[in-house]
Amino acid sequence: MGALRFLYDCDPGADDALAMLLALGRPDALDMIALTCVAGNVGLEPVVNNARRILELCGRRDIPVYSGAARPIMASRGRTSIMHGADGLAGSTLPFPTMPLADGHAANEISRIAREEGRLHICATGPLTNLALALLLDPDLPDFISAITIMGGAAFCPGNTTPLAEFNFAVDPHAAAIVFDSGIPITMIGLDVTRQATVTDNMIRQVQAIDTTVAREAAHLLINYGSKDPCLHDPAAIAWMLKPEMFETVQAHVTICTDSGPAAGQVVAAVSERHLAGRTTNCTVVMLVIAEEFRRLFVNALR
Ligand code: RIB
Ligand code: CA
Repeated sequence: MGALRFLYDCDPGADDALAMLLALGRPDALDMIALTCVAGNVGLEPVVNNARRILELCGRRDIPVYSGAARPIMASRGRTSIMHGADGLAGSTLPFPTMPLADGHAANEISRIAREEGRLHICATGPLTNLALALLLDPDLPDFISAITIMGGAAFCPGNTTPLAEFNFAVDPHAAAIVFDSGIPITMIGLDVTRQATVTDNMIRQVQAIDTTVAREAAHLLINYGSKDPCLHDPAAIAWMLKPEMFETVQAHVTICTDSGPAAGQVVAAVSERHLAGRTTNCTVVMLVIAEEFRRLFVNALR
C-alpha cells in the first residue's frame, strides 16, 4: 500500500513543527499533500511563516501552504500560548520563508482538495476553525473525507487551558462542535494520551547525535519547547497515523461544550451504555501509548 496522502491543518507552534518533522521524515508512509494554517499558538502571520520555515528546512517547498482563519468562529479574538515563544518556534534561528503562500483560503482549499482526492484524510493539530468553516461552506464535504485525526481535547482528564478544556478546543469550541457533529470518522488524540508522550533527556541526546540541520532544529524545539511543556502533543497525532498499534483506544460519543461559561471547549465523552443512552459512537478516543516506542519512532524518522 502506498503512502497515506493527507492534508495537515495546524498552528505551528513548536509541537506542530515537530509533528511536521515526524511526518516528513516518513515519506514511505505519509504523503503531506497540502498544509493549511490557522491562528492558535501564535497569530496567523507567524503561523504561516513558521509552516513555510519548516517546509523549506526539509526541502519541501513543493507542499502548498494555505492561510486560513485568523480568529475563532465566535470569539472576537483567539488566545495565544506563551509556551511557544514570541515567534512560535521557541526562538528558532531558521530563516524567514522565501516560498510564497499558495492562493486561496484554507476553508475553500480543504473542500477543493478533498473533492479532487475523493476520500481525503485530514490531520488537524490546531483550533478546528478552518475545518468547521469548510464544513459550513460545503455541506457535502463529509462525503469526501475518509477520516480526521485530531490532536485536541481532554476526555477523562483536566484541561491544560482551563480546568475543563484543552487549548485547541478552548480556542474555538464552536468549531470543534461542528467537526464532531459532522459524522466524519474521528480519532481524538487528546491530553489523556499526549501527557504520556513526553520528551526525555535520552531522546534529546539521541536527536543531538544526528548530524543534520533538520535534527538540530528538532533538538532546539525539543529543548526549548520541552522545557515549558514536555508533552509532544501534535507528534502523537502523526504517530497514530504511522503506528496505531502503539496506542490503546476507546469508542465514545463525543460532544463539545459550547457554553460561554467555565465549561467552554470541554469534551463530554460517553462510553458506557448508560451514558450513550442509545446514541452511536462518533469518535475513537486514544487513551494510552507505549511512550518508549513513540520516542523511538520519532528519533528514527529524524534519522
Ligand atoms: O493543547 C495542546 C495543543 O494546543 C497543541 O496542538 C499545541 O500546538 C496547541 O495547538
Ligand atoms: Ca498545535
